[in-house]
Amino acid sequence: MKIVAILGSPRAKSNSTALARTILHQAAEQGAETQEFLLNKLEFKGCQGCETCKTKLDHCVVKDELGPVLEAVKAADAVILASPNYFGEVSGQFKSFFDRTYSWLNPDFSSRLIPGKASVFVFAQGQPSLDMYRDVHARYEMWLKRFGFARNYLLRMNGPRAADSVSQRPDLVGQAEEIAHELIGGSKQA
Ligand SMILES: Cc1cc2nc3c(=O)[nH]c(=O)nc-3n(C[C@H](O)[C@H](O)[C@H](O)COP(=O)(O)O)c2cc1C
Repeated sequence: MKIVAILGSPRAKSNSTALARTILHQAAEQGAETQEFLLNKLEFKGCQGCETCKTKLDHCVVKDELGPVLEAVKAADAVILASPNYFGEVSGQFKSFFDRTYSWLNPDFSSRLIPGKASVFVFAQGQPSLDMYRDVHARYEMWLKRFGFARNYLLRMNGPRAADSVSQRPDLVGQAEEIAHELIGGSKQA
Protein backbone atom coordinates (compact mmCIF):
# COMPACT_ATOMS: atom_id res chain seq x y z
CA MET A 1 0.00 0.00 0.00
CA LYS A 2 1.29 3.45 -0.90
CA ILE A 3 0.31 6.50 1.19
CA VAL A 4 1.15 10.08 0.20
CA ALA A 5 0.84 13.02 2.60
CA ILE A 6 0.31 16.57 1.35
CA LEU A 7 1.31 18.93 4.15
CA GLY A 8 -0.24 22.40 3.95
CA SER A 9 1.16 24.15 7.03
CA PRO A 10 4.14 26.52 6.71
CA ARG A 11 4.96 26.18 10.42
CA ALA A 12 7.95 24.43 11.88
CA LYS A 13 6.52 21.96 14.43
CA SER A 14 3.08 22.26 12.85
CA ASN A 15 0.25 20.45 14.58
CA SER A 16 -1.44 19.24 11.37
CA THR A 17 1.92 18.04 10.02
CA ALA A 18 2.64 16.18 13.27
CA LEU A 19 -0.71 14.36 13.14
CA ALA A 20 -0.26 13.50 9.46
CA ARG A 21 3.21 12.14 10.24
CA THR A 22 1.80 10.05 13.09
CA ILE A 23 -0.51 8.35 10.58
CA LEU A 24 2.35 7.90 8.09
CA HIS A 25 4.65 6.49 10.77
CA GLN A 26 2.06 4.01 12.05
CA ALA A 27 1.19 2.92 8.52
CA ALA A 28 4.89 2.49 7.66
CA GLU A 29 5.30 0.28 10.75
CA GLN A 30 2.56 -1.91 9.30
CA GLY A 31 4.32 -2.17 5.95
CA ALA A 32 2.99 0.78 3.96
CA GLU A 33 5.21 2.70 1.56
CA THR A 34 4.97 6.37 2.53
CA GLN A 35 5.93 9.69 0.99
CA GLU A 36 5.33 13.29 2.09
CA PHE A 37 5.32 16.65 0.35
CA LEU A 38 5.73 19.85 2.37
CA LEU A 39 3.94 22.36 0.15
CA ASN A 40 5.64 25.39 1.72
CA LYS A 41 9.03 24.11 0.53
CA LEU A 42 7.91 23.68 -3.08
CA GLU A 43 8.04 26.28 -5.85
CA PHE A 44 4.63 26.15 -7.47
CA LYS A 45 1.80 28.22 -8.84
CA GLY A 46 -1.93 27.95 -8.33
CA CYS A 47 -4.15 26.87 -11.21
CA GLN A 48 -3.77 29.19 -14.20
CA GLY A 49 -7.32 28.54 -15.41
CA CYS A 50 -6.01 27.83 -18.92
CA GLU A 51 -8.27 24.75 -19.37
CA THR A 52 -5.43 22.95 -21.21
CA CYS A 53 -6.17 19.90 -18.99
CA LYS A 54 -9.67 19.87 -20.52
CA THR A 55 -8.82 20.72 -24.14
CA LYS A 56 -5.36 19.32 -25.00
CA LEU A 57 -3.77 17.31 -22.18
CA ASP A 58 -4.86 14.75 -19.58
CA HIS A 59 -2.66 16.43 -16.95
CA CYS A 60 -1.68 19.91 -15.80
CA VAL A 61 0.36 21.89 -18.35
CA VAL A 62 2.16 23.93 -15.67
CA LYS A 63 5.70 22.67 -15.22
CA ASP A 64 6.77 23.26 -11.64
CA GLU A 65 7.42 21.37 -8.42
CA LEU A 66 3.75 20.49 -7.91
CA GLY A 67 3.68 18.23 -10.98
CA PRO A 68 5.32 15.27 -9.17
CA VAL A 69 2.91 15.75 -6.24
CA LEU A 70 -0.15 15.49 -8.49
CA GLU A 71 1.36 12.38 -10.12
CA ALA A 72 2.27 10.79 -6.76
CA VAL A 73 -1.37 10.92 -5.67
CA LYS A 74 -2.38 9.19 -8.91
CA ALA A 75 -0.06 6.31 -8.00
CA ALA A 76 -1.10 6.15 -4.32
CA ASP A 77 -3.71 4.04 -2.56
CA ALA A 78 -4.33 6.69 0.08
CA VAL A 79 -3.64 10.38 0.53
CA ILE A 80 -3.39 12.41 3.72
CA LEU A 81 -4.42 16.03 3.22
CA ALA A 82 -3.21 18.16 6.14
CA SER A 83 -3.82 21.87 6.67
CA PRO A 84 -4.12 24.47 9.39
CA ASN A 85 -7.35 26.45 9.63
CA TYR A 86 -6.68 29.98 8.38
CA PHE A 87 -9.71 32.27 8.65
CA GLY A 88 -12.13 29.35 8.50
CA GLU A 89 -10.45 27.80 5.45
CA VAL A 90 -7.43 25.74 4.53
CA SER A 91 -4.07 27.51 4.18
CA GLY A 92 -3.25 29.33 0.95
CA GLN A 93 -0.57 26.75 0.20
CA PHE A 94 -3.12 23.94 0.48
CA LYS A 95 -5.75 25.80 -1.58
CA SER A 96 -3.22 26.45 -4.36
CA PHE A 97 -2.43 22.72 -4.43
CA PHE A 98 -6.10 21.79 -4.41
CA ASP A 99 -6.96 24.11 -7.31
CA ARG A 100 -4.36 22.27 -9.42
CA THR A 101 -6.25 18.98 -8.83
CA TYR A 102 -8.68 20.35 -11.45
CA SER A 103 -6.33 18.48 -13.80
CA TRP A 104 -7.58 15.18 -12.28
CA LEU A 105 -10.94 15.78 -13.98
CA ASN A 106 -11.85 14.87 -17.54
CA PRO A 107 -13.67 17.39 -19.78
CA ASP A 108 -16.99 15.86 -18.63
CA PHE A 109 -15.82 16.23 -15.00
CA SER A 110 -15.51 12.49 -14.44
CA SER A 111 -12.32 11.54 -12.61
CA ARG A 112 -8.98 10.64 -14.17
CA LEU A 113 -7.91 8.93 -10.93
CA ILE A 114 -8.27 5.20 -10.38
CA PRO A 115 -11.37 4.89 -8.13
CA GLY A 116 -11.29 3.39 -4.64
CA LYS A 117 -8.50 5.38 -3.01
CA ALA A 118 -8.76 6.49 0.64
CA SER A 119 -8.28 10.01 1.98
CA VAL A 120 -7.58 11.44 5.43
CA PHE A 121 -8.26 15.14 5.96
CA VAL A 122 -6.25 16.48 8.91
CA PHE A 123 -7.41 19.94 9.94
CA ALA A 124 -5.96 21.89 12.91
CA GLN A 125 -7.71 24.92 14.39
CA GLY A 126 -7.12 27.10 17.44
CA GLN A 127 -10.82 27.41 18.27
CA PRO A 128 -11.81 24.85 20.93
CA SER A 129 -15.33 24.24 19.59
CA LEU A 130 -15.55 21.51 16.97
CA ASP A 131 -18.98 22.88 16.05
CA MET A 132 -17.16 25.68 14.27
CA TYR A 133 -15.73 24.99 10.80
CA ARG A 134 -17.59 21.70 10.26
CA ASP A 135 -18.29 22.93 6.73
CA VAL A 136 -14.64 22.83 5.65
CA HIS A 137 -14.18 19.07 5.42
CA ALA A 138 -17.71 18.62 4.06
CA ARG A 139 -16.84 20.85 1.11
CA TYR A 140 -13.52 19.15 0.33
CA GLU A 141 -15.04 15.69 0.81
CA MET A 142 -17.56 16.48 -1.92
CA TRP A 143 -14.72 16.95 -4.42
CA LEU A 144 -12.77 13.96 -3.07
CA LYS A 145 -15.82 11.77 -3.74
CA ARG A 146 -16.01 13.17 -7.26
CA PHE A 147 -12.35 12.18 -7.73
CA GLY A 148 -13.36 8.63 -6.72
CA PHE A 149 -12.02 8.51 -3.16
CA ALA A 150 -14.13 5.77 -1.55
CA ARG A 151 -13.15 5.98 2.14
CA ASN A 152 -12.75 9.49 3.55
CA TYR A 153 -11.53 9.95 7.11
CA LEU A 154 -11.42 13.17 9.13
CA LEU A 155 -9.04 14.06 11.98
CA ARG A 156 -9.65 17.47 13.53
CA MET A 157 -7.47 19.20 16.12
CA ASN A 158 -9.27 21.88 18.15
CA GLY A 159 -6.43 23.67 19.93
CA PRO A 160 -4.16 24.50 21.55
CA ARG A 161 -3.21 27.11 18.92
CA ALA A 162 0.52 27.04 19.61
CA ALA A 163 2.88 24.99 17.45
CA ASP A 164 4.16 21.67 18.79
CA SER A 165 0.97 21.05 20.79
CA VAL A 166 0.14 17.53 19.63
CA SER A 167 1.86 15.99 22.65
CA GLN A 168 -0.85 17.67 24.76
CA ARG A 169 -3.53 15.81 22.77
CA PRO A 170 -2.91 12.08 23.30
CA ASP A 171 -6.56 11.54 22.30
CA LEU A 172 -5.77 12.78 18.79
CA VAL A 173 -2.56 10.77 18.56
CA GLY A 174 -4.72 7.73 19.39
CA GLN A 175 -7.22 8.68 16.65
CA ALA A 176 -4.36 9.10 14.17
CA GLU A 177 -3.05 5.63 15.03
CA GLU A 178 -6.54 4.16 14.66
CA ILE A 179 -6.93 5.76 11.22
CA ALA A 180 -3.60 4.25 10.17
CA HIS A 181 -4.87 0.80 11.20
CA GLU A 182 -8.08 1.33 9.25
CA LEU A 183 -6.20 2.50 6.16
CA ILE A 184 -4.06 -0.64 6.17
CA GLY A 185 -6.94 -2.94 7.16
CA GLY A 186 -9.23 -1.49 4.51
CA SER A 187 -6.65 -1.99 1.79
CA LYS A 188 -6.16 -5.64 2.84
CA GLN A 189 -9.93 -6.23 2.59
CA ALA A 190 -10.11 -4.59 -0.84
C1 LIG B 1 -3.30 33.37 9.54
C2 LIG B 1 -3.95 32.54 10.59
C3 LIG B 1 -5.32 32.44 10.62
C4 LIG B 1 -5.95 31.63 11.57
N1 LIG B 1 -7.31 31.54 11.56
C5 LIG B 1 -7.93 30.73 12.45
C6 LIG B 1 -9.35 30.65 12.44
O1 LIG B 1 -10.04 31.28 11.66
N2 LIG B 1 -9.93 29.79 13.34
C7 LIG B 1 -9.19 29.04 14.22
O2 LIG B 1 -9.78 28.29 14.99
N3 LIG B 1 -7.83 29.11 14.25
C8 LIG B 1 -7.19 29.95 13.38
N4 LIG B 1 -5.81 30.03 13.40
C9 LIG B 1 -5.04 29.19 14.34
C10 LIG B 1 -4.49 27.93 13.65
O3 LIG B 1 -5.49 27.24 12.92
C11 LIG B 1 -3.89 26.97 14.70
O4 LIG B 1 -2.77 27.62 15.30
C12 LIG B 1 -3.48 25.63 14.15
O5 LIG B 1 -2.99 24.81 15.21
C13 LIG B 1 -2.39 25.77 13.09
O6 LIG B 1 -2.08 24.48 12.56
P1 LIG B 1 -0.56 24.11 12.18
O7 LIG B 1 0.22 24.02 13.49
O8 LIG B 1 -0.67 22.80 11.50
O9 LIG B 1 -0.03 25.19 11.28
C14 LIG B 1 -5.16 30.88 12.49
C15 LIG B 1 -3.77 31.02 12.48
C16 LIG B 1 -3.17 31.84 11.55
C17 LIG B 1 -1.67 31.97 11.54
